[in-house]
Amino acid sequence: MSATRDRPDGCGPVGADVVSRPVVESRTFGEWTLVSIDAPTVASVARPGQFVMLAVPGAVFALRRPLSIHRVRGDRIALLIERRGAGTRRLADMAAGAQVELSGPLGNGFDIGSSGSALLVAGGVGVAPLQFLADELRARRIPSWTFVGLRGETHLPLLAALDLPAQTVATEDGALGIHGTVVDALEASPASAAAVEKGAVVYGCGPLPMLFALRDWASVHGLTGYGSLEAHMACGTGACHGCVVATTRGYLRVCADGPVLPLEIIGEAIVTAGGAR
Ligand code: FES
Repeated sequence: MSATRDRPDGCGPVGADVVSRPVVESRTFGEWTLVSIDAPTVASVARPGQFVMLAVPGAVFALRRPLSIHRVRGDRIALLIERRGAGTRRLADMAAGAQVELSGPLGNGFDIGSSGSALLVAGGVGVAPLQFLADELRARRIPSWTFVGLRGETHLPLLAALDLPAQTVATEDGALGIHGTVVDALEASPASAAAVEKGAVVYGCGPLPMLFALRDWASVHGLTGYGSLEAHMACGTGACHGCVVATTRGYLRVCADGPVLPLEIIGEAIVTAGGAR
């Protein structure tokens, strides 16, 4: 099930080379920053659901950080960075003109070959890879519905960074949209009923409890789908086994066998070696 593709010259997987590229734009939306990087070799081959590994500026011994590709525009890739700790703060603080070391695109990406229609479900910053997916679905004229779950009022600025089709918002504090979790919103909204009727393929990204709930919701409604996992990573290319997770199909590496896995194999025992985040 490995998704890692080897380069024709045999020198490691595609996307493993580290390159230094310039930041061309940085825009902040509350706790999130949208960083655009001029990276033509990544942009030209990236698929929705893939990620890049970024070196934290000025941190000599820190592990590189995996970040989903949020959007591709020409030679540029955009990354949506949530300020979670010192490393992500340094990444989010990169201003236009800064150089960043990155490798990618890595991972398997979403399978959209068989989608007649699509239901995209995000929890918080899990929306990052779904924007790129939504762009691709729009380009292919595949009807899509989007559900975004946020914790509450302080997270609303994230919405200004997004450009999603048929978007339904849920907030756990009731500040906007449906009051509850994003899966509560799926239960309550006529938009998801329309997606169920069409047999839409489900694509989810967010915290594990959300993915478990989404897996169960999709199963009850007879839908198949995919979940994109987050994990701490070291190599990002399948070599170190530092991102292994337990699934109902055995142990898999999030970076090389995923990060996108069929929803039905995401079992409750899934715990990454470094801790899911
Ligand atoms: Fe090394 Fe996934 S991070 S195998």
